[in-house]
Amino acid sequence: MSKNQLDQKSQAWSALFSEPMSDLVKRYTSSVFFDKRLWQSDIQGSLAHAEMLAAQKIISSQDFADIQRGMAQITDEISKGQFDWKLDLEDVHLNIEARLTQIVGDAGKRLHTGRSRNDQVATDVRLWLVSEIDLISALLNDLQRSLVEVAEDHVEVILPGFTHLQVAQPVSFAHHLLAYVEMFARDAERMADVRRRTNRLPLGSAALAGTTYPLDRERVAKSLGMVDEHGQACVSQNSLDGVSDRDFAIEFTAAASLCMVHISRLSEELILWMSQNFGFVKIADRFTTGSSIMPQKKNPDVPELARGKTGRVVGHLMGLITLMKGQPLAYNKDNQEDKEPLFDTVDTLKDTLRIFSEMIGGQINVLSGKKEGGMTVNAEAMQAAAKKGYATATDLADYLVKKGLPFRDAHEVVAHAVKTAQSENLDLSELPLANLQKFNPAIEKDVFECLSLVGSLKARNTLGGTAPDQVRLQIASHHARLGF
Ligand code: ARG
Repeated sequence: MSKNQLDQKSQAWSALFSEPMSDLVKRYTSSVFFDKRLWQSDIQGSLAHAEMLAAQKIISSQDFADIQRGMAQITDEISKGQFDWKLDLEDVHLNIEARLTQIVGDAGKRLHTGRSRNDQVATDVRLWLVSEIDLISALLNDLQRSLVEVAEDHVEVILPGFTHLQVAQPVSFAHHLLAYVEMFARDAERMADVRRRTNRLPLGSAALAGTTYPLDRERVAKSLGMVDEHGQACVSQNSLDGVSDRDFAIEFTAAASLCMVHISRLSEELILWMSQNFGFVKIADRFTTGSSIMPQKKNPDVPELARGKTGRVVGHLMGLITLMKGQPLAYNKDNQEDKEPLFDTVDTLKDTLRIFSEMIGGQINVLSGKKEGGMTVNAEAMQAAAKKGYATATDLADYLVKKGLPFRDAHEVVAHAVKTAQSENLDLSELPLANLQKFNPAIEKDVFECLSLVGSLKARNTLGGTAPDQVRLQIASHHARLGF
């Protein structure tokens, strides 16, 4: 093969290389077919870098103008699907740079002054992830809002609260939903925290040791919006760390995993609640599928898939964290493997949040401006279930404590009462007063108030408790926090 043929077939830096890559190795090492999705961040980062190079007189203002013009054309080509992505050019960075040089000539070749793909890719991924975190945060707010809206309509709806999946005590359905709002609010906090550490500029670290050009890194950070809450530029402080750190991707995936775990727990409940044995809720048909053999079936495919996809996201966390563990400083090609798990985590989480928000809260009808098609609640079924299983037994014990019995003794008295009620197939509230008094003479007529589901609920009127008054306070504070 002639030198010329070799140059065409191999890579952009090929003068040193005496043989071309095999097709298999090319396919194995290239990333363009997945990292092309970073193209907007790549161009944004390059323009900020070029602007700074010109301001620092490292390149001419004419070069910068040419680079801007070339990038505008490339943006247009990619947006229209007319850009010719080449496997031979390995990744998104080399593809865009090569096309730039084709369009604007030498200015394109000057763009990479004082820069390496190592700090370039680290910058691109961060920029991309920050904008995705912003979308995810908005989706987390939507989901919380959907849950709060359904909660608002069901403050006084009572269902059995479970521990060990055994009926424990009655709770308000709104209270139950608000537990998930708390989880998703923490997920949003975690995302905001990850965003702060992601929004830092590695560019200027060059390959690993910094660069000999008088770069103004803070200027680049500011023009990319990599600033803290006081508007101060956020710039990585160690070039070796700058090019090799992928903590931000790992912690994002960890935060995403936790969020998916919360979705998965909610899914598990929806699946149980939708089963014939519970019959507590229904989700709209568009989130379910039928069976190819059993005509009566409506399966909760969406919650089941969300539960399944949680495993996939947690798997990505394991993949990313394992990717880092053996890497010496600084950049290693291993890091190219960060992208697919990260991309898939973002896609899975965004789709899941979007779908859950609609499945629970419904969709806005453009004509009426109201949401419709959300989850429907069968209050009677919940109430009937709460009546089974002696959910107010603790209330009877508390009643006796208020009459002066030590709690342990009261617990024992109630255990006897429950045993008797069970043998007669009655609820505690259905036992005649005279029978109840046999267990303890302190029991009076007012006991029936505390044995009722409503009385039991109302009595738990401490901060964070399930009493309707408390639940309404929580709803109001979520309204204020979420701004609706
Ligand atoms: N495609 C590479 C990645 O994703 C870009 C950086 C390549 N750097 C290098 N020294 N080979 O990590």
